[in-house]
This record gives sequence, structure tokens and C-alpha cells, in this order.
Amino acid sequence: MARRAVLLLLGIAGGLLLAGSARAYTNAGPISEEIQNLFWAITLFAVVVAAVVFGILAVFLVRYRESVSPRPTSWVEGDRNLEILWTVIPTIILIVIVIISVPVLVYTDTIPPPDTTVRVVGTQFIWTFYYEDGTTSSPDLWIQAGTVVKLEVTATDVVHSFAVPDLGIKIDAFPGHMNHWWMQGDVPGDYLIQCAELCGLEHAKMLASVEVLSEDEFDAWLTRRRAEQTAGTSDLGQETWEGVCSKCHGLSGEGGIGPALAGSVVIADPEAVEDLVRNGRRTMPAVGAGWTSEQVTALTNYLRENPPGGG
Ligand code: CUA
Repeated sequence: MARRAVLLLLGIAGGLLLAGSARAYTNAGPISEEIQNLFWAITLFAVVVAAVVFGILAVFLVRYRESVSPRPTSWVEGDRNLEILWTVIPTIILIVIVIISVPVLVYTDTIPPPDTTVRVVGTQFIWTFYYEDGTTSSPDLWIQAGTVVKLEVTATDVVHSFAVPDLGIKIDAFPGHMNHWWMQGDVPGDYLIQCAELCGLEHAKMLASVEVLSEDEFDAWLTRRRAEQTAGTSDLGQETWEGVCSKCHGLSGEGGIGPALAGSVVIADPEAVEDLVRNGRRTMPAVGAGWTSEQVTALTNYLRENPPGGG
């Protein structure tokens, strides 16, 4: 009987463990690695404490069940030594957790000398990234593996939160305020960016990815992107349309939260579009208030060549 109860408890514990690890994040950078090591160390304490508590509970449930011990035992008034013991042990565990946590906090909060700085701007409902040389990318971020990227995080309208779970990154983006942090991706690949602050109707669609590239790939990307952007041939216009405008007006301009754009006279007029995105109108936020003129031009060029609902 005791064995069956123990097996049942072990089964439940195992199921909970499996359920918890179903969406395990990878350790693709030093910050996530430090945080996950700390997480597992603290989990180890929790598992040991739970095993002791539930183990004793199981033994008592089985040994003193009513069919075996129909009469209550005598009243026990307390045990000073036991009480000291179960106060001292958790205190020691908490002190150990503080001792192993503080260095992780200091490590993740201290920005190492950066190899590059990227400004991260949250807007309903897209992220835009500005590199030091003026290159703009949106909605995806491209970084070089193994380098320290300093992040300057802000927003243009409401509070967003820039989160890259696989890299251990989550930092709030406030309008009118610059937050500073850093990120590093060690393993090339692409990792999900998600907005982690409810920022409006399309919050759940504020998804993108970080592309961590090898040095050669990154250099090639940045050079190509810069050249295309200067020449006005980059995908920035399409990215802006798909990342910003279409979230409210529909991918084909069919409308949604915002009005349908087919046949709109404003869309055909670059100056009117610039005025609209920079200043907003009625319920439309000033999504492009912080855009470079390159980005606005990229958008108006894209709209001229691909009028929404026009083909
Ligand atoms: Cu931006 Cu949620």
C-alpha cells in the first residue's frame, strides 16, 4: 500500500516536471545561460524540500490511516529542537539562494564594453532597430554571434516590452524614456522576439525574430543592407507596410481596425502619407514620428509601386 502511494506521488511529480519543460527555451547566450543555471539550482532546492515534505506526508497518510489506527494518538505539545531545526534549515537555504543569485544579478545588469549599439524602438505594433551607421531594420533584428550588443530601448506611443526568451532578454520600452541593457547571442540561428507588455489590440501580433549570424554573414548583411537603403532598393518599405500599416489596415489594404485603403487618395500622395504617419490622425497613432526620412521614403516608394487593393 505504501509503495503504491509513493509510486502515485512520483508519477504526479514526474508529470508536472514534464509539463513544465514542454516549452524549454534554448541557452543561446550568456544571459540566458546564467539565468537558467540559477533557475535549476533553485529548482533543486525546491524539489528536495518537496520530496521530504510529501514523503513524510505519504508515510503518515498510509501508516496512520483510519483502518489501521482507529483511535487518535495522544496530543503532542510541540518539540523545541524540531522547531529550531525547521526554522534554521529554510533560513540556510534562503541565504544560499541569495548568495548564488546576487552575482547573476550583477553579471546580467552590468553592460560589458559593447561591440555595437542598437536603438530598439517599440511602436504599435512593430519593433524598429537603428544601427550606429544609420541602417534601419524592421521588424527583425540582425546581430553578430559572440558580440556584445548594447540596447537602447524606447517606445513611440505606449509601453511595450522587448523580450527574447531564448537569449534571456526582457526589458520594458517606455515612450519618452531610454532603457539600457545588453544582449549577446552565441549560437547562430533565429530566435523569437515577442512583445511582453499588453500594448493594444494587436499586441499578440507584435512578433519578430533575432537573426544571430556569423561574423562574415553579418558583415555581408550590414554592407548589403546599408547599400540598398542608400540606393532606396531595400525591403524597408515592404517591411514597414507589412509590419506597421497592415496590422490595422490589412495585408492587402482590405481594412480591419483601420479603414480599407483601396483607392485612397492619401496613399497615392507621398507628402500626405508622410504627414499621416508622422503626425497621426484621429484614432491613427503617429506610428512614424521617430522614423528616418529614409524609412518614410521607402514606404511611400513601396506604396507607389504596390498600391494596396490596386492589384
Ligand atoms: Cu507591444 Cu505588446
